[in-house]
Amino acid sequence: MNFEEKLSKALEPVLNSRVKESMAYSLLAGGKRLRPMFLYEVLKGYGCDPEIGDYFACAIEMIHTYSLIHDDLPAMDNDDLRRGKPTNHKQFDEATAILAGDGLLTYAFEYASKTDMDAETVLKGIRFLANKAGSNGMIYGQDLDTLELVSDPDLEAINRVHNYKTGCLFSLPLMIGALLAKQPAEVIQKWESIGEKIGLAFQVQDDILDVEKTAYELGKTNSDVRNQKNTSVSLLGIENAKSYMNQLYEESIQAIQEFEGFDATGLINSLKGVEERNL
Ligand code: IPE
Ligand code: IPE
Ligand code: MG
Ligand code: MG
Ligand code: MG
Repeated sequence: MNFEEKLSKALEPVLNSRVKESMAYSLLAGGKRLRPMFLYEVLKGYGCDPEIGDYFACAIEMIHTYSLIHDDLPAMDNDDLRRGKPTNHKQFDEATAILAGDGLLTYAFEYASKTDMDAETVLKGIRFLANKAGSNGMIYGQDLDTLELVSDPDLEAINRVHNYKTGCLFSLPLMIGALLAKQPAEVIQKWESIGEKIGLAFQVQDDILDVEKTAYELGKTNSDVRNQKNTSVSLLGIENAKSYMNQLYEESIQAIQEFEGFDATGLINSLKGVEERNL
């Protein structure tokens, strides 16, 4: 079964309803599936069967998709296009989009809890999910992003927003991969920092693409300029943002190579693919 099939299967037990239709509409709309890919690459690098990560990989993609549905709402970025299709609230309505996000977030925990491993490991994984998705994680970043508390931000302020709104959901699959591979806490912590760096690189890249590509190419509306967002590009300019992005990816790759007992080839290849993507 490929990952798309696993995601569809994950939704099967959900009661047939409008909210299920709306959850499936966004979850099964494609997307690059980078976070699950990273989880699987960490498991493979440790020589584990990647399938032990299936429930968590699907759960993380559900949480990520929920974050996008809510991020697109009129009260947030107010976008019309996502994953090449009308955004959830455009296809359905705002109430349904809010519920679809809530449904995906909640169901993610139910689904992750089905992982067939010792209870302590599963419980730790669920705690990571809650921590990285919640108000000490992605939600905190989205709060800073929408509040725009800093009117004249420096790189440190912008990086802080990016670390939380994007970095947390990149640390999560790396940490879960290491956890399921039975790595000790200090190793998991290293993966957490690497995830933050990858997330930062990825958000700088996302900000670059927002100004360089068309909505058609991106499959999502470019709204940063319309929303007067403080981004890495508005702060650094496009050329400096590009070299900053390359430097962050390079540093991430170097850090990944330092793990003992980890075959980094697959993960590094995936990461290079992400860096070189022009979409
Ligand atoms: C979009 O993430 C949100 C950001 C953190 C910039 P992705 O670019 O991974 O979105 P999908 O999953 O491919 O749609
Ligand atoms: C989104 O950042 C981060 C989250 C959804 C948590 P953006 O607002 O830049 O993402 P896109 O560009 O809409 O995908
Ligand atoms: Mg946003
Ligand atoms: Mg957005
Ligand atoms: Mg963006």
